[in-house]
Amino acid sequence: NIDGAKYMINGEIRKWDGAIQTVYSPIFLEGTEEKVQIGCQARLTPKESLEALDAAVAAWGNGAGEWPQMSLSSRIACMEKFVELLKPQREIIVKVLMWEICKVRPDAEKEFDRTMDYINATIKAAKELHNAENNLTEESGILAMIRRKPIGVMLNLGPFNYPFNETYTTLIPAILMGNTCVMKLPNVGCLAHIPTMEAFAQCFPKGVVNFISGAGRETMPPIMETGKVDIFAFIGGSKAADALIKNVPNPHKLKLCLSLEAKNVAIVMEDADLDNAVSECVLGSLSYNGQRCTALKQLMIHTSVMDKFMEKFVAAVGSLKAGLPWEEGVQITPLPEPSKPEYLAELRADAMEKGANVVSPGAAQGWGHTMVFPSIVYPTNMDMRVMQEEQFGPLVSVGTFSSMEEIADYVKQSKYGQQAAVFTSSDVSNLGPLLDVLVNCVSRVNVNSQCQRSPDSFPFTGRKSSALGTLSVVEALKPMIVESLVATKG
Ligand code: G3H
Repeated sequence: NIDGAKYMINGEIRKWDGAIQTVYSPIFLEGTEEKVQIGCQARLTPKESLEALDAAVAAWGNGAGEWPQMSLSSRIACMEKFVELLKPQREIIVKVLMWEICKVRPDAEKEFDRTMDYINATIKAAKELHNAENNLTEESGILAMIRRKPIGVMLNLGPFNYPFNETYTTLIPAILMGNTCVMKLPNVGCLAHIPTMEAFAQCFPKGVVNFISGAGRETMPPIMETGKVDIFAFIGGSKAADALIKNVPNPHKLKLCLSLEAKNVAIVMEDADLDNAVSECVLGSLSYNGQRCTALKQLMIHTSVMDKFMEKFVAAVGSLKAGLPWEEGVQITPLPEPSKPEYLAELRADAMEKGANVVSPGAAQGWGHTMVFPSIVYPTNMDMRVMQEEQFGPLVSVGTFSSMEEIADYVKQSKYGQQAAVFTSSDVSNLGPLLDVLVNCVSRVNVNSQCQRSPDSFPFTGRKSSALGTLSVVEALKPMIVESLVATKG
């Protein structure tokens, strides 16, 4: 049971005595239909949000604060201490990820370990960037030196599906480069941050990192409306991001680092190795119940292999094991968002009404009110909601295509552009114009494998309305700084 009735402003962890939200696990108490309370969350008001912002603004001090003025090596020393203090928190964070967002143990452990690796890699990249700062360039009789400075105050909102890991992919580079931050914890996935507060308080000067929680609609707009946010880092749904950005009085100065919705497609060509395509499509569409921004949210199968593919795919989905996150071999777990089962049911009903078949080749009952065994909807057409919306759950949408032109048109019309996967036994260059279309429309084309963010050192971004800015290691440092040339003639 995590006591989340706290928040952190100006280095002080405060007990909250206002409205509290009980946090329940999606998992029921064994053998019952009783909810399990796993903690609570402070429902802060605009007053605390603005206090947190003031603390971050004061620590920034228009670039003259202790933290932005500190040498990179001293900031790195703070970050290294932070890593050491986090290490003993591994098991508690893993347990929270299992109970609060139902991530299976191996994935929860990976989320923690990957984050530690990410911080260490970011430290290394920051050192390399710093060393490059002293490189002088001389051209046309002008000697130029690049000076890199932090930008200011970040407002950071992370997602529920990687509450710990993905939030850090914007937070860590920002503070390492000398910026200060207000972190608004996600409503689902909030508890993973509570055990880290003490480490933040011990390792960084007052006001560098501030934590708030509560309803986004109440706590976020007041911050954005001040115009004092310099970097807005947001991972989640486009609607929420748009609503917040539109309240900014000085949008031209706001730096955006957005990772939004995606509808990654798997394209299974007629010459694909179907066994490999099936296993990668199962992983890609259903690992962590399909709740990954990189998940395969639409499978497009060449008509000539559709029947064979479906036979194998339905069998593979049917062999997935549903259960609790700590049980051996489990892949399907209860969903953290209470409204998700109803939403998925709506998508299924809409597709059926418009002519699709729906199969759910397994059973899942008794582990919680949000346990949903995956269903497969096929063949889909563009009128169906499931082809237009990001389902973000255990629902696989499968359509067909019969020519390269047809599938290229499908890719072009999408408003999303994060990644795609192509399954073929031929050399990719044989895809001809389709490969050009893919490369123009998405940020990563995966050949014969599912879509994914890792390795984390690869640039991670998206085209169209899927992203703005690039996460990774080296690329994530650049949006957190401003570069100036000092150019000397002669
Ligand atoms: O949910 C979005 C994440 O960036 C997906 O990361 O591909 O490592 O699961 P992943």
